[in-house]
Amino acid sequence: MSPAAPVYDEPYDHPSGARPPQLPRPTIPRHVAVVMDGNGRWANQRGLPRTAGHEAGEAALLDVVAGALQIGVTHLSAYAFSTENWKRSPEEVRFLMGFSRSVLRRQRDTLNAWGVRIVWIGREQRLWSSVIKELKEAEELTRSNTRMTLYMCVNHGGRAEIVDGVREIVAAARAGRVSPRSITESSFRGWLNDPDMPDVDLFLRTSGEQRTSNFLLWEAAYAELVFVPELWPDVDRVVLWRAITEYARRDRRYGGAVDAPQDPAAGS
Ligand code: IPE
Ligand code: IPE
Ligand code: MG
Repeated sequence: MSPAAPVYDEPYDHPSGARPPQLPRPTIPRHVAVVMDGNGRWANQRGLPRTAGHEAGEAALLDVVAGALQIGVTHLSAYAFSTENWKRSPEEVRFLMGFSRSVLRRQRDTLNAWGVRIVWIGREQRLWSSVIKELKEAEELTRSNTRMTLYMCVNHGGRAEIVDGVREIVAAARAGRVSPRSITESSFRGWLNDPDMPDVDLFLRTSGEQRTSNFLLWEAAYAELVFVPELWPDVDRVVLWRAITEYARRDRRYGGAVDAPQDPAAGS
């Protein structure tokens, strides 16, 4: 007999009572990657220091995870700290390190109860050891959850991830464990942070900026890009669902083409 399916708590409802849009299952993205941008501007617009914006972003993340679970997204990547964010003031960097640690500690039990597996994506180099420890504890606590994988991208950069993979391949080739001819696009995938991470389907960035800022470069090579104007602390699951509705309308061709001339007499 196969073991019983795990039972998880349902996430809390959106305060407005909003429910996810009814979309055909194949149109729901499997992997959504989110650039949680606009915290500093949100705070400064209110006469507050940038760090107040990061604090306000915690509830937005939790609501988006709840909404992702409700609509059936199985993989969600959250860009929390980039390899470029070390350029910020020492005060902001210090705040962000401590904040990542405390968000994980505060939210891990809730996420665990919802059936979310937390996986850290990022580089060890420079990252505070207390943050690494917290990330690893959250991974350990949630490792057997199967409802959704939440990739916490902390000290992640797409280029850094690719370069780190190349370094490991070169070392393996030198040791005779890999032959250069055996390296393919799909085998290279295995040298990135999490070999099991599916490609990104929907790449969502908030705050109106229209760039990828080095997020999951390899994995998002064919993602559909959706940019929304809301600053991250103003984001909730309804914004995510709107982006998924937009995604569901897209025609993903992956370089292919279908020849289907229309009848000009039929009008438009
Ligand atoms: C995103 O918000 C959070 C992090 C990069 C950690 P920002 O801090 O980039 O906020 P803006 O873009 O300056 O408003
Ligand atoms: C991207 O946002 C990084 C995160 C959200 C963690 P940034 O605000 O750092 O990116 P840029 O500076 O607009 O490219
Ligand atoms: Mg920003």
